[in-house]
Amino acid sequence: MALTQQAAKEKIIVALDVPNREQALQLVEQLYDEVGAFKIGMQLYNAEGPSIVKAIQQRGGKVFIDLKLHDIPNTVAEATKVLTNLQAFIMTLHAGGGKKMLAAAAAAAAESVPEGGSKPLVVAVTVLTSLSQQEFTEEIGIDRTIAEQVVVWAKMAKEAGLAGVVASPKEIEVIRQACGPDFVIITPGIRPLWSAANDQSRIMTPKQAVQAGADYLVIGRPITAQADPKAAARRIVEEIMEA
Ligand code: C5P
Repeated sequence: MALTQQAAKEKIIVALDVPNREQALQLVEQLYDEVGAFKIGMQLYNAEGPSIVKAIQQRGGKVFIDLKLHDIPNTVAEATKVLTNLQAFIMTLHAGGGKKMLAAAAAAAAESVPEGGSKPLVVAVTVLTSLSQQEFTEEIGIDRTIAEQVVVWAKMAKEAGLAGVVASPKEIEVIRQACGPDFVIITPGIRPLWSAANDQSRIMTPKQAVQAGADYLVIGRPITAQADPKAAARRIVEEIMEA
């Protein structure tokens, strides 16, 4: 099933892994018409605060606020209300905080949508892709394969009322099987054939990830580190349209 250009654009979330407002807004200026949303993480959010979210929104961009919350349920619920008020398009928490924490966030988002606004997609981060199986077993102390744990946590997130998960492209299929067609799967680790892998190891091309069932692709350097980010984004849109 071929995607329209608009549908392909909507799938792309550009990771604004930059240290300050100037660099972030320079990218937003070039890309807001080419992609679906922008992701700000703890580097940019902690440097610039909520005003960077508003600045991106004022330029017409949706914002994925990736703070990976992990605390007691009440604290996470209150922080979720703040991010809902800021009108995050997507926000993240660690599945390892447990079902009560996830459910508290889901409820907090639902009850704090400002008038005329929309509810953020509250999604869980499962097992960090930076962990090896050996570290997972010996340091974290969980006696399952990482793939098994990812599915356990994805199911728990769904039961807790979350919209979806962030997952490695290689995990899309098992999560889709376990959690069904409506569960949102957001995936980083995306590399077009023409871009450098950088430090990503378990990668897929944009087209492969969409074919595997990803709803959104988080893409940083293959767009932001190019001489012409707009041209790179357009090239990726073309590739996704073939999926
Ligand atoms: O530049 P690149 O495309 O590798 O950026 C990917 C983005 O997705 C970064 O913001 C990175 O922190 C994030 N991410 C990731 N792998 C994960 C979770 C998040 O690369 N497992």
